[in-house]
Amino acid sequence: MKVLITDPIADAGIDRLRDDGHEVETAYDVEGEALLDAVADANALVVRSGTEVTEDVFEAAPDLLIVGRAGIGVDNIDIDAATDHGVIVANAPEGNVRAASEHTVAMAFATARSIPQAHIRLKDGEWAKGDYLGTEVNGKTLGIVGLGRVGQEVAKRLGALGMDLVAYDPYISEERADQLGAELASLEEALDRADFLTIHTPLTPETENLIGEAELAQMEGGYVVNCARGGIIDEAALADAVDDGIVAGAAIDVFADEPIDPDNPLLDVDDVIVTPHLGASTAAAQQNVATSVAEQISAAGAGRPVANALNAPSIDESAFPRVKPYIELAETAGKIAIQLFDERIESVSVDYAGEIADEDVEFVTASALKGVFEPLEWQVNAVNAPSIAEERGIDVVESKTRSSEDFNSLVTVEVSNGEESVSVCGTLFAGDDPRIVRIDGYRVDAIPHGHMLVVRNNDTPGVIGFIGTVLGDNDVNIAGMFNARETIGGEALTVYNLDDPVTDDVRATIAADERIIEPYYISLNGTIE
Ligand code: NAD
Ligand code: MLT
Repeated sequence: MKVLITDPIADAGIDRLRDDGHEVETAYDVEGEALLDAVADANALVVRSGTEVTEDVFEAAPDLLIVGRAGIGVDNIDIDAATDHGVIVANAPEGNVRAASEHTVAMAFATARSIPQAHIRLKDGEWAKGDYLGTEVNGKTLGIVGLGRVGQEVAKRLGALGMDLVAYDPYISEERADQLGAELASLEEALDRADFLTIHTPLTPETENLIGEAELAQMEGGYVVNCARGGIIDEAALADAVDDGIVAGAAIDVFADEPIDPDNPLLDVDDVIVTPHLGASTAAAQQNVATSVAEQISAAGAGRPVANALNAPSIDESAFPRVKPYIELAETAGKIAIQLFDERIESVSVDYAGEIADEDVEFVTASALKGVFEPLEWQVNAVNAPSIAEERGIDVVESKTRSSEDFNSLVTVEVSNGEESVSVCGTLFAGDDPRIVRIDGYRVDAIPHGHMLVVRNNDTPGVIGFIGTVLGDNDVNIAGMFNARETIGGEALTVYNLDDPVTDDVRATIAADERIIEPYYISLNGTIE
């Protein structure tokens, strides 16, 4: 694959990509048209927080399979647009947690003891010992907004230094907070009680400007640390609050605009200390996130599960070998079902029976949807198939039953418009040999490959010979055939595996015979012909 890297990552990640056989190109600091040009033929894009990955980027990169974020924050990536374009977005959420939490602790001390301010003055030759009277963290209360990965590591570290912990996080369990020795509280209470406030939420519409003038007023002489994301704290309000002494000091690593605007008011306030988004900037963290992203890009390229995919259905890596053959089987069953269905689809049901029902089948269901939508020429893959279904108002029903009558595992894909429906069941012989074993309740045994002709016909003598003759006369070689019927002389279903495609004329010749109810040509290679 061609991998484009537009923000610097550790060499370990680049080496890993090259070792995995990818062609790696770097184009740092590109934006606008230059970025769109650079990404045009890329299969994978690697970024940190510097590259804005907008809808335009996805438009410009038709072959893009995955965007890897070497770090956690994905607020610079339009994930909805990625999903619409069927592009996986994956991040590396673990690798820099320690680095970010250590930086937070360092920033808390730096502001409480005015270390950068004293440092600059001493470097300038000034011995300002009498000007600084710091604050100890021991015995003080730390208010943590966002008790996720980084917030929890900060809690452990500053808790161990003697701080009382009060946390605001509506999505974390009381039990987890207890384990960390933190008390869960409302934002208001956390602000009231905190001597130090530290922010560890993502930037979302909900957290944007979460901490503004009114919230800062509650801090009454406390300290504020933000090593999460700019935009969560109102920067102008913070600058004023520190300037006015309402907040004693602030330590800020992240900004609403990065690189920081030279006019940012925070830069003018002496008791606001700043670092240029260095939270994750340790050698270990950068190596971790770079290799994690490289691994995920290689996994995506090889069709394996992408461990930290944010917009794609996931599969546990250890379960992948068991689930993998069903991914293709479900897609094929979906393709056959839709090509046998003449109506507008309103729902797709995917039923899992037998051993497969014990597995996590989210990805298999997404693949069944891909199979259903692909012959309709919708631009679809397993990433965007569930959202395409939602957008088009197609109900998706997934069901599981532990028992399966005749097979160890059976996957059934049914398409329906509420009145009419077509169902196709598939299984794996000997664990990995895919077979279609039922079509609309008829027992068949078809190899789902290449070209198929599925004919609904009357069960009368000579009809199979007739179809065979028409195919033979038109140089269509029959690789296999299976006939199933309801009752003698009733309706029958005949499935032909073919080596060659069936043209419209051949299909029409077969359809014209009065014994034929309906012939369907199924292509498993592409769109409906
Ligand atoms: P995380 O997803 O593990 O944790 C975020 C926590 O915030 C979750 O527990 C979530 O429940 C909580 N949360 C979400 N919305 C909330 C709300 N409205 N109010 C209160 N809590 C809310 O993320 P993480 O790995 O801990 O990262 C936290 C932040 O740190 C992110 O913004 C990330 O981008 C940033 N980060 C920055 C650096 C850096 O270099 N400065 C490095 C790593 C992470
Ligand atoms: C992150 O979200 O992981 C951090 O902001 C680190 C970074 O990429 O600089």
